Amino acid sequence: MNPTRTERGDVYVYGSAAEVARAAADAFVACVAGVLADRATARVALAGGSTPKAMYRLLASPAYRERVEWKRVEIYFGDERCVPPEHAESNYRMAREALLDHVPLGADRVHRIAGERPPEEAAAQYQQKLVRLGDPPRLDLVLLGMGPDGHTASLFPNDPALDETARWVVGVPKANVAPFVPRVTLTLPTLASCREMLFEVAGTDKRAILTRLFAAENLPANRARSIGETVWLVDRAALPEKSGGQ
Ligand code: 6PG
Repeated sequence: MNPTRTERGDVYVYGSAAEVARAAADAFVACVAGVLADRATARVALAGGSTPKAMYRLLASPAYRERVEWKRVEIYFGDERCVPPEHAESNYRMAREALLDHVPLGADRVHRIAGERPPEEAAAQYQQKLVRLGDPPRLDLVLLGMGPDGHTASLFPNDPALDETARWVVGVPKANVAPFVPRVTLTLPTLASCREMLFEVAGTDKRAILTRLFAAENLPANRARSIGETVWLVDRAALPEKSGGQ
């Protein structure tokens, strides 16, 4: 499939959310294999929220599991909600249940954000964890979603975290959408520092915000760009009508 090339990256459109999930799993497999052809370890930052769950489940399925050299993958997170790791709203818990528990990844290769700690403390601790990835820390694949207000990771519209350039990880005292708990998020320069940034956006409830994004509005998701490739996988339900949405 040929993408539409835009200033925010390459946009691929699929017929359903399931197709988006499959394309995202394929992109994950390809990106990790490409990195591992050059280097010993591939570093992936996972997205939270609900959209990536289907991709994670696919990656954990027998058909996909064998296609990734999990022993050479390190897992990080783009953001976390400030709740304990077993909490129903924890991004780590979602990723663990859908993916991490089902693939041969050593526990020492999964680097979660300590959502049980106060946000600034968890951010400083995660920043320390990222030190060994370089300055700025270099991730290979960054998975992201977009909220109904245009946020990505836990970078909300008009939040000072958006303009942070010195720190790699920050605490966000107030979330703009549910769950209304403080957050911890990688900052834009940290997210940018990757070979590939992959957005997954699906469902009619994303159509209004995707319309605003395509109109180049100043939204956090429009400011998140990789220094490498940025790719948007969207389904037709989320696509603005004039761009071919249904
Ligand atoms: C979070 C996120 C967030 C998410 C978007 C989309 O912790 O909520 O990481 O940025 O990706 O809000 O969420 P959905 O996939 O649930 O729509």
